[in-house]
Amino acid sequence: MVVTDQNKFQAIISHAKEYGFVFPSSEIYDGLSAVYDYGPWGSELKKNIRDSWWSEMTRMHDNIVGIDSAIFMHPTTWKASGHVDNFSDPMIDNKDSKKRYRVDHLIEGFADEQAKAGKQEVAEHVVAEMDKLLAANDLAGLKMLIEEYKMPCQVSGTVNWTDVRQFNLMFSTQLGSLAEESDQIYLRPETAQGIFVNFLNVQKTARMKIPFGIAQVGKAFRNEIVARQFIFRMREFEQMEMQFFIRPGSQKEWYAYWKEERMKWHLSLGFPKDMYRFHDHTKLAHYADAAVDIEFQFPIGWKEVEGIHSRTDFDLSSHQQFSGKKLQYFDPEINQNYVPYVIETSIGLDRMFLLTLSHAYAEEKWTKEDGSEDSRTVLRFPAKLAPIKLAVLPLTKKDGLPEIARDIIKDCRQDFYCFYEEKDSIGKRYRRMDALGTPFCVTVDHQTKEDSTVTIRHRDSMQQERVPIASIKELVRASMK
Ligand code: GAP
Repeated sequence: MVVTDQNKFQAIISHAKEYGFVFPSSEIYDGLSAVYDYGPWGSELKKNIRDSWWSEMTRMHDNIVGIDSAIFMHPTTWKASGHVDNFSDPMIDNKDSKKRYRVDHLIEGFADEQAKAGKQEVAEHVVAEMDKLLAANDLAGLKMLIEEYKMPCQVSGTVNWTDVRQFNLMFSTQLGSLAEESDQIYLRPETAQGIFVNFLNVQKTARMKIPFGIAQVGKAFRNEIVARQFIFRMREFEQMEMQFFIRPGSQKEWYAYWKEERMKWHLSLGFPKDMYRFHDHTKLAHYADAAVDIEFQFPIGWKEVEGIHSRTDFDLSSHQQFSGKKLQYFDPEINQNYVPYVIETSIGLDRMFLLTLSHAYAEEKWTKEDGSEDSRTVLRFPAKLAPIKLAVLPLTKKDGLPEIARDIIKDCRQDFYCFYEEKDSIGKRYRRMDALGTPFCVTVDHQTKEDSTVTIRHRDSMQQERVPIASIKELVRASMK
């Protein structure tokens, strides 16, 4: 059964807005569907996730380099990549409500309802049937499945459906002032193609030898028809992708390697193993001969966070054919020219953000020693990813305490993000820092003036201890490893 916690998910969305992590885009105009802005702490968290991925993929691997390619690309790119012809989702419209559904979402939603009503067998059967029909691209069969089980529209409640049709997900725009068809270009739906078209530029200039990888982080755009669930499915989002170029025939071995490597990165951030699983694709994208999702147990159920795809030589061969330029590698070890095969790792930065936020979010209640109740909302971020690492809080605004606090910040800010706060009681300031996920707060008090020690408070245990000012920096740095 699909376990979801919609209340927790709603609470996370509200918290993200209230504490400056994520805002609806152009909110003063009532927002724009499935587009979001990151606030002060959201953009720090996002940057820390991006940096961790970048460092893992480039610094930690001798044979991977990064690039930063443009969002706009020559329109033939998307013809060659198959996106013009194949990057579409099967959709169905309800004739009464005019509401449009992605067919897999409609069927999965129906299956969830059945599972909740205890009809697990029906739920499993319709999903299995759907997978088969999607794999066979059988649009008429999908409609028959929807009608056979009388799957209703959530708005009209009727089963008055149109035929199933394919809708392309790419956004297009015009280059230059003439609205002629030849000027039509696309907003990239994946960053990967910027890597493929630069394969030879990078291989030659960075003197790379196969096997080697090219990594990139950047925006991607998809006109998701059913875009919901907050930042899980957006129309403008950021991807962190790596294409690993290999000798043909070695793809199975490298696919297994990258599956393991990528899972290791997730676990190295401190997320629990039992909240992850692999999900093999039955319906493969047009470019892949094998594909697996790394799924995480979000409050909205098990969902994909990252994909590992064995893309064969599809992309490079196709670009070679469409551009008329050779995209081959001479392998001195076997004395042969070939079009390399590719293993891709592709993770959504926003989705990783949601994973981090939803796993960190906790509402806690406890009874104090005097018998009274207390509570807090805390974001238990891994210290490495936390937007603010250290809050420095002078007990009062006078007696030289703010000056000492500022000196501590001056000493630490080169190494990690510090935050100064002198307003409100210490208790209130701790609560606010818990809500922002700050792992450490230090309080500067009158004793500090005498012995250069401060109270350091640990976010997760709420334990406090007295430590020398001189030890703060190392203590925080050690937690970020
Ligand atoms: N280059 C391969 C590729 O783009 P994908 O499975 O379509 O593969 C890879 O996307 C990752 O990008 C997904 O695992 C997900 O994390 C993220 N992603 C895809 N569509 C998204 C969307 N509409 N909003 C947010 N993230 C998305």
